[in-house]
Amino acid sequence: MDMVQTEKLIFEYEKRDEEGNVIGTSRAIDEVDIDVQEGQFIAILGHNGSGKSTLAKHINAILVPTQGTMWVNGRNTKDPEELWNVRQSAGMVFQNPDNQIIGTVVEEDVGFGPENLGVPTDEIWQRVEDSLRSVGMIEYRHHSPNKLSGGQKQRVAIAGVVAMEPKCIVLDEPTAMLDPVGRREVLKTVQKLREQKKVTVILITHYMEEVVDADKIYVMDHGHVVMEGTPREIFSRVDELKSYRLDVPQATLLADELRKRGLKIPGGILKKEELVEALCQLN
Ligand SMILES: Nc1ncnc2c1ncn2[C@@H]1O[C@H](COP(=O)(O)OP(=O)(O)O)[C@@H](O)[C@H]1O
Ligand SMILES: [Mg+2]
Repeated sequence: MDMVQTEKLIFEYEKRDEEGNVIGTSRAIDEVDIDVQEGQFIAILGHNGSGKSTLAKHINAILVPTQGTMWVNGRNTKDPEELWNVRQSAGMVFQNPDNQIIGTVVEEDVGFGPENLGVPTDEIWQRVEDSLRSVGMIEYRHHSPNKLSGGQKQRVAIAGVVAMEPKCIVLDEPTAMLDPVGRREVLKTVQKLREQKKVTVILITHYMEEVVDADKIYVMDHGHVVMEGTPREIFSRVDELKSYRLDVPQATLLADELRKRGLKIPGGILKKEELVEALCQLN
């Protein structure tokens, strides 16, 4: 089943002068077609300003298309009557955990989402407990979020989204402000959610290492989807990725260099272990 689908999605921001009059528009998304099936893990890559966040904000109707269509869980996000259903289907996690945490106690913060959805009190507590467990933060339930590390805060933010039981979670550079430990914590959490809750995950990032397990990758540039495929397909096109100012996983890069020097190494190597294996096969 289609979870998120767009057809020739166009979005233009309005430019305004100092008095607030519209003096023009700038196109941030230009005829984008994407198709995400229920349960998939999708990654969106792209340099700064390529339109990733603008696209993400369409998935829970923070923005609606200027032209074209976005469906979430089969519902057209432009239809005001569907707004509630769209927001319930897709939860968002943003870059800065400090902007997403509003409660003074962890469990209270996680409970806000389901409370706003009108979930009965008993069930709220059950959901809070389950979701804090699933992100590995249950022992912090009575703590103040202020004292947590960045990675822990981000996991609380994720728990808050999980507690609303969305079918799809969109994470917009959730690890960008974290140290390597925090990044690993958050990625492990996302992976666990995919396995245990079977939620659809759309991960926006510019860390290539985070996307090697994705079912499909979209690469964006200047508001367009310029590449689409499995990690193996995408990362075998090293020169093209570089032309969009994207990094390539280190193992992929090294494999590519070795191949250019004449070693018979297959394309699309993603992990260190695969490179080692390929090198051992040579002789
Ligand atoms: N609120 C806004 N008003 C006007 N232009 C914006 C706004 N937000 C983003 N843009 C512009 O839209 C384009 C895409 O931005 P964005 O979606 O944030 O890209 P990304 O998330 O890939 O960095 C950029 O050119 C950016 O400057
Ligand atoms: Mg962004």
